[in-house]
Amino acid sequence: MNSAEQISTAIQSLQLSLGPHNSSEIRIGEGILKLLPEWLPKDSADPHVVLVADAFLSAQAEALQAAFLAQGWRADLIQVPVSEAFKDLEKLMPLYGQLLEAKTHRRSWLLALGGGVIGDAAGFLAASYMRGIRWVSLPSTLLAQVDSGLGGKTGVNHPAGKNLIGAFHQPRWVLCDSALLNSLPARDVVSGLGEMLKYGLIYDAAFFDWLMAHLQDLQALDTDCLVAAIGRCVDFKLQAVAADERDESGVREILNFGHTVGHALESLIDYGYYRHGEAVILGMWAAIEISARSGLLAESCAKELQNSLEKLKLPPIPEIITDNAIWAKLRYDKKAEGSSLRLILLKNLGQPVVVKDTPVTLIREAIQALLKRFQAL
Ligand SMILES: NC(=O)c1ccc[n+]([C@@H]2O[C@H](COP(=O)([O-])OP(=O)(O)OC[C@H]3O[C@@H](n4cnc5c(N)ncnc54)[C@H](O)[C@@H]3O)[C@@H](O)[C@H]2O)c1
Ligand SMILES: [Zn+2]
Repeated sequence: MNSAEQISTAIQSLQLSLGPHNSSEIRIGEGILKLLPEWLPKDSADPHVVLVADAFLSAQAEALQAAFLAQGWRADLIQVPVSEAFKDLEKLMPLYGQLLEAKTHRRSWLLALGGGVIGDAAGFLAASYMRGIRWVSLPSTLLAQVDSGLGGKTGVNHPAGKNLIGAFHQPRWVLCDSALLNSLPARDVVSGLGEMLKYGLIYDAAFFDWLMAHLQDLQALDTDCLVAAIGRCVDFKLQAVAADERDESGVREILNFGHTVGHALESLIDYGYYRHGEAVILGMWAAIEISARSGLLAESCAKELQNSLEKLKLPPIPEIITDNAIWAKLRYDKKAEGSSLRLILLKNLGQPVVVKDTPVTLIREAIQALLKRFQAL
């Protein structure tokens, strides 16, 4: 019996096929991280991995390094303290030097162990080092396992805005190990749940209801529930990426549901106050409000969905945030992108629609409703 069989009979296996050199193997399960040295092809004269890891996960990173060494690989470990500030070209510069020092070559594998920050930054390192080397995404937050760790969007921030410098570079492997989530703070669990609920809202009413029915189990990090739900979310994300890898045809755009107002809140209140998924929950609440006020979504349905979202514990929106500030931010961002304000709204649970010309007054009223509901929690 090999160790894969010992660990679990319930390892889910999915693929993303975008061409011969642009495909990902995805595995989801409990305790699967240690299997990576068995799965990764040793296809070079100098089998070498370099692990870039969130310093918070040093125990897991060192164990993984040891597992590679034990299987005859050369294995280097770079640990970095993580905050959004790490997504910065200046912070990455020394890491290129460390890759060179470790004699990282065109057939080395870069392994990124951490949440969305490590995935984005180390993925970009892999995309740009020697014009691109292969990388493996090892997402360690719920948000990263259901969303950011898949799909190949890598990059760093610029003072002018988030994720303005980057590249599409698919990880060849993605391992979503639910055991990594055991240490996750409650707020990061809610943040991941936000993105999971998003898939239900835009794609699948039954999945949304299932998530709401299992909210307590998921928040208690029940393994069976988590693995099942992560697998479903990964499948939704892979389908969108397979249909529209580069975010060009509009399919992947739907994944931005809740992100217009969510991003505005994140940037107005200092990145760090809200976890990404928390801001997305507020953004989805606002999008549902706009959908109802536009006459697209039945009011009773909107109320029910908003009540569901309100079951998740969120920090209040600070009093200094005004509807003027949010509106100005929405307008500024769209101008900077050279696009009009396109909103992703709902016609029904699981039925999104992209709307271009929503009246300004209607959007502003919805933002006021959001502030009224979430400023004094
Ligand atoms: N590339 C994409 O498609 C995409 C999509 C969504 C978000 N993102 C990006 O992802 C980032 C947010 O991701 P995130 O929420 O995972 O943030 P993160 O990487 O900052 O992780 C959140 C916190 O959890 C800690 N942490 C990580 N794993 C842990 C674990 N197993 N146990 C305990 N603590 C752990 C981290 O040290 C950090 O303090 C943002 O930069 C966002 O722009 C990217
Ligand atoms: Zn998101």
